[in-house]
Amino acid sequence: MSAHSDTGPAHGHKHGHDHGRGHAHQTTDADWDAMAERLEAGGELQLPVLRRTAARLGELLGPSAEVRRILDIGSGPGVMTCVLAGAFAGAETVAVDGAPGLLDRTLSRAERLGLDGRVAVRHADLPEGLRTGDGPGADGLGTADLIWSSKAVHHLGDQQGALDALAGALKPGGLLAVAEGGLPMRCLPRDIGIGAPGLQARLDAAQEKRFAIMRSELPGSTPAVEDWPAMLRRAGLTRVGSFTFLLDLPAPLGGTARAFLHDQLTRLREIAGDLLDAQDVETLDVLTDPGSAQGILHRPDAFLLSATTVFTGVRTATAEGSAR
Ligand SMILES: C[S@@+](CC[C@H](N)C(=O)[O-])C[C@H]1O[C@@H](n2cnc3c(N)ncnc32)[C@H](O)[C@@H]1O
Repeated sequence: MSAHSDTGPAHGHKHGHDHGRGHAHQTTDADWDAMAERLEAGGELQLPVLRRTAARLGELLGPSAEVRRILDIGSGPGVMTCVLAGAFAGAETVAVDGAPGLLDRTLSRAERLGLDGRVAVRHADLPEGLRTGDGPGADGLGTADLIWSSKAVHHLGDQQGALDALAGALKPGGLLAVAEGGLPMRCLPRDIGIGAPGLQARLDAAQEKRFAIMRSELPGSTPAVEDWPAMLRRAGLTRVGSFTFLLDLPAPLGGTARAFLHDQLTRLREIAGDLLDAQDVETLDVLTDPGSAQGILHRPDAFLLSATTVFTGVRTATAEGSAR
């Protein structure tokens, strides 16, 4: 599974933009909404990493920073939104997403965790939601001391444009953190005793192809060299850096992680099956067969190892209060 194992909903199009019907940017939220459970389960598995990430963001902001407002852009089911709300007790944390069902899930989650009142949601179709208004951050989303965005910027056609807008929405001294890097997730040994060894590398390659197609079909798709630190600098940010945290769940895996992997492999078969050869598709069929002892739900060698890289930059306060 590649580092960006979220190429979007199964049929390859997420927030679909139906130019044919004359709507500049019509959102088909149902697709992301349908992925809600998978996204929340994946987020919950990552909780230890997300908590460490929130703590690191606090360190980067510094002990004297007053964090009053946080935006989580492309917040999905709000797992990190709630982690951020827990870590920055004095802040209002706003989950921003284009899928209403995921925003509802965020509010339920916040309520369950006793964070209601501190977590707000904002429905926004990006990038429009970032760009309207008289100037950077002057739109409905407002400004923030901390802007977090995980695996969402790559779903926007113009990634640099999105980073520029997010950087512009930071208060002076504020921090932008985008989780857009890492390594492909691993869950199986090279040779699993069925099919040809090296399945995961071939799944990565298929997903990369699917990812490239997904990006090329986005409205305003703009090719970019994905040098995230350079892009953050170009957006006017300073003190640019990155950090990586590992999720390391060794074999034997518990039921929750197995269910998550079963979901991932099922989805991979759906979105990339046509890019794999017949033997690999057969192997995926065995791995996703709930009744097979060789399936991911039962095999003893399944593990979960993933690395997520977060790129960060700070909006420097100048005499004019401008970022640049
Ligand atoms: C892969 S999920 C990431 C969710 C969460 N941040 C995480 O890391 O688990 C991408 C999220 O971005 C949202 N999204 C994608 N494209 C969007 C757009 N154009 N406007 C608003 N939200 C969008 C989707 O609804 C989805 O919740």
